[in-house]
Amino acid sequence: MAKISEHTIEQVRSSADIVDVVSDYVDLKKRGRNFFGLCPFHSEKTASFSVNQDKQIYHCFGCSAGGGSIHFVMQMEKLEFLDAVKHLAEKYNLKIQYDGHSGRKQISGQLEEIHEIAKEHFHQNLLSPTGEKVLAHLLDRGLSQDTIKKFKLGYSQSDWQGLLNIVRKHDFSSEAILQCGLFIDSEKGYFDRFRGRIMFPIHNAMGKTVAFAGRVFESDDPAKYVNSPETPIYHKSKILYGLWAIRNQLKETNAIIIVEGYFDYLQLYQAGLRNVLAVSGTALTEDHARELRKYTRKIVMAYDGDSAGFSAAIRAGYVLLRSEIEPLVAVIPVGNDPDDWVKTKGLTPFNSAVENATGLIKFHAEMFSGKMNNPTDKTRFAKEVLREISTISDEITRQVYIQHLAATINISETAMYSTLDRMRKMQTQRGLNRQIAKPSSETLLKDPVTYQPLEDEIIQLCFTSEPLIRSGMVESLSPEWFVSPRMRTIFEQLAIHPHGVSLPDAALVMDELQDPLDREILSALIFRSDDIQNTPEFAVDCLTRMEKRFLTRQMDELRTQLKDAESDGVDVTSHIVKIEEIKTLIRSLQKKYTELFADEKP
Ligand code: CTP
Ligand code: MN
Repeated sequence: MAKISEHTIEQVRSSADIVDVVSDYVDLKKRGRNFFGLCPFHSEKTASFSVNQDKQIYHCFGCSAGGGSIHFVMQMEKLEFLDAVKHLAEKYNLKIQYDGHSGRKQISGQLEEIHEIAKEHFHQNLLSPTGEKVLAHLLDRGLSQDTIKKFKLGYSQSDWQGLLNIVRKHDFSSEAILQCGLFIDSEKGYFDRFRGRIMFPIHNAMGKTVAFAGRVFESDDPAKYVNSPETPIYHKSKILYGLWAIRNQLKETNAIIIVEGYFDYLQLYQAGLRNVLAVSGTALTEDHARELRKYTRKIVMAYDGDSAGFSAAIRAGYVLLRSEIEPLVAVIPVGNDPDDWVKTKGLTPFNSAVENATGLIKFHAEMFSGKMNNPTDKTRFAKEVLREISTISDEITRQVYIQHLAATINISETAMYSTLDRMRKMQTQRGLNRQIAKPSSETLLKDPVTYQPLEDEIIQLCFTSEPLIRSGMVESLSPEWFVSPRMRTIFEQLAIHPHGVSLPDAALVMDELQDPLDREILSALIFRSDDIQNTPEFAVDCLTRMEKRFLTRQMDELRTQLKDAESDGVDVTSHIVKIEEIKTLIRSLQKKYTELFADEKP
């Protein structure tokens, strides 16, 4: 996809009035300054979804969803940012401008075109005499002509430049040919990456072909699968194979089934299931989980019935847990995978395996190598699971899974909690928490590690309706003063935009926050920004506390260094001088900020 120009995004932002955009989906009623309606993102009976027209943002007080018009459309239509911009541009009849040089398209546009050509080429190969044996093999494996056509399965010939010669006939830049991932650059020139393989095109959520997987066919090549590398249009840790084909049907279904292989997906799709996805050529990642969370909070993993499949399911299960998705495991009989199981036994046993899927902890316990009646093994298992649970940032989820664990191995929850506490303390000491804990806004509000009420108030003051307070805040604050990484990100985004007399553009700041949780937090704060006192005194107080906290941390660090230096017999004069300087600074803070706001008074 070519890059949409900033100008177009700007136009969309200014044309797509939030009330107008939301009204297409939600019946809004004006109450006070805001509009209210029933939240389209969670089911509710009383309206807690609110829209602020002045600030051009929405926020749900029930489920914490929040953002500007573009994010509303993203969430509603499950679109990526630029696709949502396109969608709105169409609604408001705006002409889309693309960045880039005149004539030739942007690289990603070229990459998509190359993939389209390659897909057709491989598919035609399969249907031509060259692919006769491969086609027979696929039909023999139980795939129908329809399935093969729909998913455009193909065959790559065994010659070295079959695809290259075709692509060369088009006007693609050498950069595009290098970056598309379909050719390998060698001393002797380019050659085809995929040769003599069954080809599975991999589509993105919008149905564009962005990569391929090639399964070995009747050759002694040791690589069973060759996969496209990462390219500007293919990020394998985000792509869910088959999503494009079922995306529109997903809304109504409640759980999604995840399988390991392309054949598993195709067999189940063909059997009529429309809630199946496969991860392609990689283990399930947090990015996949984030993508999945757009559609569901419950995943049933139907992984191969062998030890590799079982342990992959357990690993994936904990990734899902951390993303607040409930993981269940459908037990596939040993030696089978969903593909051959459904092919030989039909859908009924598979469906009942999904129906009776096992909770993650129970499944993990069943697969655990030790004997659960032996105290040593029990402890080993408990610790293994608790280590996973300790990385879950949502407190409720943590509790639920501790209960599962306690019940599964029949040990008191209290013992679990004290072990868990110790583990979490150790992680905090090692500073691991920041990487591990990705709290949702609700939990962030309770998480003692990162939650700082002061930082909430500071951000709210940056959005207050009082212009002098606003600008005084933004100019005085420094990102490194923030303890919460999220708050720091939010502040950095708002600080790079002009913050003079006009209100900071909430929707703009919101659009630039990549993480939905950051947007949830910010929209919640902005909607409540009038609840705090917007007086100069309060601003002075907040800034003083904030900078003091930062300086105190610096001082503490110096004191620790001082102690170490002393015991090593090193000269500590410079430490003492610095500590004294900081003390003086701290004492002057109140005065500094009082003067700042006094000066600005007319
Ligand atoms: N896979 C991979 N690279 C490999 C092996 C497997 O990327 N060397 C991925 C593929 O996405 C594959 C999935 O893991 O679809 C499952 O692997 P497997 O069960 O071995 O392959 P199937 O596709 O099921 O093929 P078959 O049934 O023909 O053995
Ligand atoms: Mn298989």
